[in-house]
Amino acid sequence: MRTPFVVGNWKLNKTISEALALVTELKNQLGAVKGVAVGVAPTFVALNSVAKRLEGSSIATCSQDCFWENTGAFTGEVSAPMLADAGATWAIVGHSERRQFFGDTNESVGKKARAALAGGLGAIVCVGEMLAERDAGRTLDVVDAQLAGGLDGIDGAVAAQRVVIAYEPVWAIGTGRTATPAQAQEVHAHIRKRLVEKFGQATAQAVRIQYGGSVKPSNAEALMAEADIDGALVGGASLEAADFVAIVKAARPG
Ligand code: 13P
Repeated sequence: MRTPFVVGNWKLNKTISEALALVTELKNQLGAVKGVAVGVAPTFVALNSVAKRLEGSSIATCSQDCFWENTGAFTGEVSAPMLADAGATWAIVGHSERRQFFGDTNESVGKKARAALAGGLGAIVCVGEMLAERDAGRTLDVVDAQLAGGLDGIDGAVAAQRVVIAYEPVWAIGTGRTATPAQAQEVHAHIRKRLVEKFGQATAQAVRIQYGGSVKPSNAEALMAEADIDGALVGGASLEAADFVAIVKAARPG
């Protein structure tokens, strides 16, 4: 069985002191939680402070992005070895906001995922269609292209341990308009099928597929009950301890 994985993607929110206040609460409230893996993704500047505060807890520190080169003349970028050095254990790559506003492509997302894995991090590879693509009946084609690029060159043994897919329909992000559990499950099952084709059954069954897009305490349990939804990538509702804790608890199996 897959252990669900719930990650709070804080995006461009929280000063260092605000970040520390939130993770201190999470550490207190989730210290004893069983059956679910938990992570938070602060901004780069808060990442090291957060990781230090989370030492001794099972809550993972994640980055929101990761560049594909390790060092060099790449002003503004942060590499996987540097993130690992700062205390990150996972990197989110290919978030739709990076694709929309910062030029990430299926190919560059693959480079970032490979760099994260080579640097010893886990990679949370984000996929998801825009509203116009869904309305045009292209959801699965879009997701297929994103998966092909994002997982290009990744070895099955590594994927089984350290790759997570996050399905985040862009029309559901920050809009309050969640995909229904059935809509999400349809795409998650399709992703699982593609993972079987690429990696074989055993690895495909081990890889967790998170859902993201307006996940809240009120809808988390129904989403997590779907067979192929293995946790959540939570934006807005991860900024308040009470909401995030409730979502983590809703993701526990049984
Ligand atoms: P919201 O939960 O705010 O819709 O954001 C989802 C998301 O983009 C997480 O990565």
